[in-house]
Amino acid sequence: MAVNRFVLNGISYHGHGAINEIPGIVKSKGFKKAFVASDPDLVKFGVTAKVTDLLKENSIEYELYSDIKPNPTIENVLHGVDAYKASEADFMITIGGGSSMDTGKAIGIIINNPEFADVRSLEGVAPTKKRTVFTIAVPTTGGTGAESTINYVITDVEKKRKFVCVDPNDIPDVAVVDPDMMASMPKGLTASTGMDALTHAIEGYTTAGAWELSDCLDLEAIKLIAANLRKAVENDPDGREGMALAQYVTAMAYSNVGLGIAHSMAHTLGAVYDTPHGVACAMMLPIVMEFNKEYTGEKYKSIAEAFGIDTTGMDQATYRQAAIDAVQQLSIDVGIPTKLEKLKEEDLPFLCESAAADACAPGNPRPASLEQFEEMFRKLM
Ligand SMILES: NC(=O)c1ccc[n+]([C@@H]2O[C@H](COP(=O)([O-])OP(=O)(O)OC[C@H]3O[C@@H](n4cnc5c(N)ncnc54)[C@H](O)[C@@H]3O)[C@@H](O)[C@H]2O)c1
Ligand SMILES: [Fe+2]
Repeated sequence: MAVNRFVLNGISYHGHGAINEIPGIVKSKGFKKAFVASDPDLVKFGVTAKVTDLLKENSIEYELYSDIKPNPTIENVLHGVDAYKASEADFMITIGGGSSMDTGKAIGIIINNPEFADVRSLEGVAPTKKRTVFTIAVPTTGGTGAESTINYVITDVEKKRKFVCVDPNDIPDVAVVDPDMMASMPKGLTASTGMDALTHAIEGYTTAGAWELSDCLDLEAIKLIAANLRKAVENDPDGREGMALAQYVTAMAYSNVGLGIAHSMAHTLGAVYDTPHGVACAMMLPIVMEFNKEYTGEKYKSIAEAFGIDTTGMDQATYRQAAIDAVQQLSIDVGIPTKLEKLKEEDLPFLCESAAADACAPGNPRPASLEQFEEMFRKLM
């Protein structure tokens, strides 16, 4: 077996009420002031306050930074770096979905590695020398799993592209995965972020670099999502808890082994049309599963079984179709659209070039040509 590297959080907390651990963590480290990165809607709807109220009750000083938009931009990071410096904070708490956690990751990396202050030079595997500032990450979607990954994704508005940064120095020190932080998600957001997690699990399970350790995490995540996403969309607390765990478990895996072209195409749609990441992933996933099916050995059999399908007596073509159908059905049941009205004929050449150049593309089990990318994008029209 080849040598495989696995990077994980130092500590993670899971379960209803996990955020109550935060003041104790801060005090045990002797930190004085938190830089809290969160987005404006989370501040407005009182989600951020669930954590900042705990800080207040425990006399822990903090500065709130909320200039963060979904599909966060280079500007969000640059303003954040200035705000961090002005705050005189000595650690960071990121509260939000992938957008808040990713912005916080980029800010923390630049604070401790100022030679990357232009942000763009962090694309790909950036040779940073120092760890990010000490970070406690609190996800509010279920979700990207960015609290346990070595990646972050930033949008270059000028060049109309999202770029992925891969850097073990950015993994948060502590992840606090509390399903109650996700309870305020509306149905559509629960559905789309849950389908993002399923895309991580299926792409991570079938990606070129997958191996035994990532496979067992991804298969467990697929089982949890198949059993819990519909319930989470109905705001059932057990469903929420199952999804909070599932999105974390698969993130442990994909962060280390990579993804595939459903993500390459989703990143491109996010950059060009500002399509929410989860929606873009959910729309691409069944299309890409169909494209990859001949290159996945017996893996779709395990995926079908993780969805509770009895594959006894099924030949390869049948169980592969059963796995794709199960994913498509889940996507329909939770209300994901199958067409993207914004997608325009004249944008196709740029979309295909951009997806082919994305950092996730080399991990796909089947290489895709520009023509094949176009065929797949066309299925959304
Ligand atoms: N770092 C990684 O490893 C990684 C992995 C996958 C995706 N991403 C990136 O993460 C971003 C997407 O993150 P996301 O899907 O978690 O969504 P998000 O952070 O972009 O948030 C989307 C919207 O949902 C709202 N929201 C979040 N939590 C809520 C809650 N509990 N209640 C009510 N509203 C809530 C936010 O305010 C925001 O308006 C994309 O930029 C994507 O590329 C990063
Ligand atoms: Fe994703």
